[in-house]
Amino acid sequence: MAAEKNALIVGASRGLGLGLVETFLQRGWRVTATQRSDSPGLKALASPALTVETADIDDDAAVSALHDRLGGQRYDLIFVVAGVATQAHDPLHAVPRDVAAQVYLTNAVSPIRLAEAFRDRLAADGLIAVMSSILGSVGLNESGGWENYRASKAALNTLARSFEIRHRDEGFGVALIHPGWVRTEMGGPDADIDVATSVAGMADVIEGHLGQKGCVYLDYTGATLAW
Ligand SMILES: NC(=O)c1ccc[n+]([C@@H]2O[C@H](COP(=O)([O-])OP(=O)(O)OC[C@H]3O[C@@H](n4cnc5c(N)ncnc54)[C@H](OP(=O)(O)O)[C@@H]3O)[C@@H](O)[C@H]2O)c1
Repeated sequence: MAAEKNALIVGASRGLGLGLVETFLQRGWRVTATQRSDSPGLKALASPALTVETADIDDDAAVSALHDRLGGQRYDLIFVVAGVATQAHDPLHAVPRDVAAQVYLTNAVSPIRLAEAFRDRLAADGLIAVMSSILGSVGLNESGGWENYRASKAALNTLARSFEIRHRDEGFGVALIHPGWVRTEMGGPDADIDVATSVAGMADVIEGHLGQKGCVYLDYTGATLAW
């Protein structure tokens, strides 16, 4: 039997993060899931294979304390799912500067800072996945809209590539993942696919990608996206 795999899923209180926790548990992984405050969804998944921790990715001290609490644990997968879409429908000039900056911090800076802090906790051949979006593709932006959110995910993609290059000799891979347009609180009720479809696809992509190096930008079907 294959050795049990370990995942750390960050931003798992609801939506795609919660769905990923459920899927990896069903696939026999051990999962450490993080929330910002008590999550009824995570509570409902209670299992000996699930550890629930609390941390806000924008809080460096909380991330550092989480790193200490998790001790010597090694993860085959660290997946930073957390993200925000505050005032995503407003054009850039209509978004107050502090709101625009906070979206950048949460969606681009905090995931890579977390990856930096936790890279020493990756198992050999481990993978750092970060939830991007097809809206982060500069080349595929033919429709406009979601201006500040798009920019934050484009920045995330750029920072992830630089992070991977900086650590290329350390033996882990980096995957930027687009989950599809998904019916969550962020995606809204008119989105293309449900959470179950998205997370099953992403879990397949990730399981197939373990052990691979470099920085890739993939959607939930495994297709490579243009930068
Ligand atoms: N849904 C889509 O169609 C879609 C498409 C492309 C990309 N994405 C990306 O997928 C990810 C998950 O989206 P979703 O649709 O599941 O959204 P969601 O339902 O709004 O969930 C967002 C999650 O991020 C967490 N979070 C936000 N800020 C955080 C912070 N500072 N620290 C820790 N956790 C934080 C939230 O925690 P709380 O419960 O504490 O707020 C929640 O668990 C995001 O990165 C999003 O940009 C979504």
